Amino acid sequence: MPSGCYMSDGILFASLLLSSALEMYSPKKPAMHSRRQVRWPALLFFIFASLMLLNHSPYSFLPSPPKYTSSQKTCPSTPPYPPLLPVPNSGFNWRRIETKNPVKSFTSLPKATKKKDKLPRIQYGFEKEESTALYGKVMQKRRLAAVKAAFTRCWASYKDRAWLKDELTPVSGSSKTTFGGWGATLVDSLDTLWIMDLKQEFEEAVSAVVEVDFKPDGVINMFETTIRYLGGLLSAYDLTDCKDSRLLSKAIELGDMIYASFDTPNRMPITRWDSAKASKGQNQTAAASGIIAELASFSLEFTRLSQLTGDMRYYDAVTRVTNVLADQQMKTNIPGLWPVGIDVETPDLTQDTQFSLGAMADSAYEYLGKTYQLLHGTKAAFQYKNMYNAAMDAVIRHMLFRPMVPDEADILMPTTVRASSPKSVHQDHTAQHLVCFVGGMLALGGRLFENETHVEYGRRVTDACVWSYQNAPNGIMPEMFSMPSCPSHTPCVYDATKEQVHPGFTSVSDARYILRPEAIESVFYMYRITGDPLYQDIAWEMFQAIDSKSRTDFANAAIRNVMADGEGEKEDSMESFWLAETLKYFYLMFCEPGVLSLDEWVFNTEAHPFRLGV
Ligand SMILES: *[C@@H]1O[C@H](CO)[C@@H](O)[C@H](O)[C@H]1NC(C)=O
Ligand SMILES: *[C@@H]1O[C@H](CO)[C@@H](O)[C@H](O)[C@H]1NC(C)=O
Repeated sequence: MPSGCYMSDGILFASLLLSSALEMYSPKKPAMHSRRQVRWPALLFFIFASLMLLNHSPYSFLPSPPKYTSSQKTCPSTPPYPPLLPVPNSGFNWRRIETKNPVKSFTSLPKATKKKDKLPRIQYGFEKEESTALYGKVMQKRRLAAVKAAFTRCWASYKDRAWLKDELTPVSGSSKTTFGGWGATLVDSLDTLWIMDLKQEFEEAVSAVVEVDFKPDGVINMFETTIRYLGGLLSAYDLTDCKDSRLLSKAIELGDMIYASFDTPNRMPITRWDSAKASKGQNQTAAASGIIAELASFSLEFTRLSQLTGDMRYYDAVTRVTNVLADQQMKTNIPGLWPVGIDVETPDLTQDTQFSLGAMADSAYEYLGKTYQLLHGTKAAFQYKNMYNAAMDAVIRHMLFRPMVPDEADILMPTTVRASSPKSVHQDHTAQHLVCFVGGMLALGGRLFENETHVEYGRRVTDACVWSYQNAPNGIMPEMFSMPSCPSHTPCVYDATKEQVHPGFTSVSDARYILRPEAIESVFYMYRITGDPLYQDIAWEMFQAIDSKSRTDFANAAIRNVMADGEGEKEDSMESFWLAETLKYFYLMFCEPGVLSLDEWVFNTEAHPFRLGV
């Protein structure tokens, strides 16, 4: 299967030529789950026109091979032995810092099983429908071109004005340092460059990444460092078929830095880590007040790093965290879930009363199913399966509410919950854009663990986010808001007399849209898992709303108030996830579904795909 998706100039030209005509026939607002009406004479004309153009264009999906620095043929089928080492350079070497709390014996990755295809099929069987109308194909190509154009525009500005910096400031056209100053946008965008077939830009970016020095630099957010930088490097390496060893070497250098933050008496990581202090060899302990997402979101990156290097220190480090999570999962105020606030020093994850799937909790849950998948459902991975199932039982029982909305749509929104005991659980009916990833998590989990109920819940959660997009004044869901709620998950009649700022929105506490990916992420999972082409139309509507409202002279920017009418004020911010995640998911919506198939790749929480190998 190709790992890149792109079109030849001929197709691009053909698509653009047809674009204005097609526009006339694309529905303005796709209604949820109803098939699109197509006008037949127009359809026939476009099939004919497209055939003519297709016949005259070179059409290939094979990426041209860039230059590699190693002769490796493909990704390893077993973890390398002896373990790989980073290529020595003049940068800071975290391996040289003395370990204060050495590990006596390391847990190794489970041995690969002989039986291939142990995991159930995730993606819908698209290949059965190879003959779908050319009309649709040309339309998807045109959409693909629009997303790619948005990306290349931002990338050109980043290159011009913020090269090697963490972020471009999209309003003022300058740059800022937000995540350690190692070029967050540069590293986070590597795999998107590859996937969009911007191979020359990719090559240029990799050459720059090689020069990055992960030297000590004050207090660092290790969660963001792991998901954006380490995830970005591993994913780019995987996409090159493990041929560009410069990327792995860089990933090991960074992995060694992150590993140093696990050097505490109980081997729990310090997630807001004073790297300067640690580099001087001072004693360190994990925080007494921590956050569940930051503790529990290393498993995917560190497991892949061990698979690719054969160095078991990383897998061992996350196994210690996972064991603590598993031990305490059923002892909290909502058995199955961990509260947001935790004590990592003890460690004690059972005290706090606030539970959420959104900010500060999200990927702790997301990574349970995904790590199981990365470990190929081997016996050692059953711990992750059990934790996933226990968590999702509690999610379905306690964390979802049915919004009371004018069209009585069959949707479920995850919310924040307070629980002082398992018998006293209260939802607050707030919604967050960030929580929208839950739809994709449930749909993927439903396929992985063969539970259709979860796929169906995934659909209803995804549709709640789609509903929020479609029914917000500008077609964009705000960051944080409340919704009126039904007493249960079953239908209830809309009460228009309830006080609301907009139908379906009780109040909006944070009206920004900061170029977030979670809604399109779940739409992407639902599309790949159910095969319903309606999700492509939904995605296109979302893309158009976001791109037109967030555009600046240089790139795209966070919007201050998506509930307000008119042009809208912008913030001088373009987080690296806009290029790493949001535009990547939009792009993949309009690609051949075999590209980065969910049966061959698993995406980290920053949308970086890791190969399901070893
Ligand atoms: C640092 O930690 C080690 C191992 O826990 C301990 O033996 C040593 O006394 C500590 N040093 C200081 C300065 O606290
Ligand atoms: C599917 O998931 C639901 C909710 O988590 C659970 O109650 C049910 O037992 C699961 N079914 C199977 C077959 O595992």
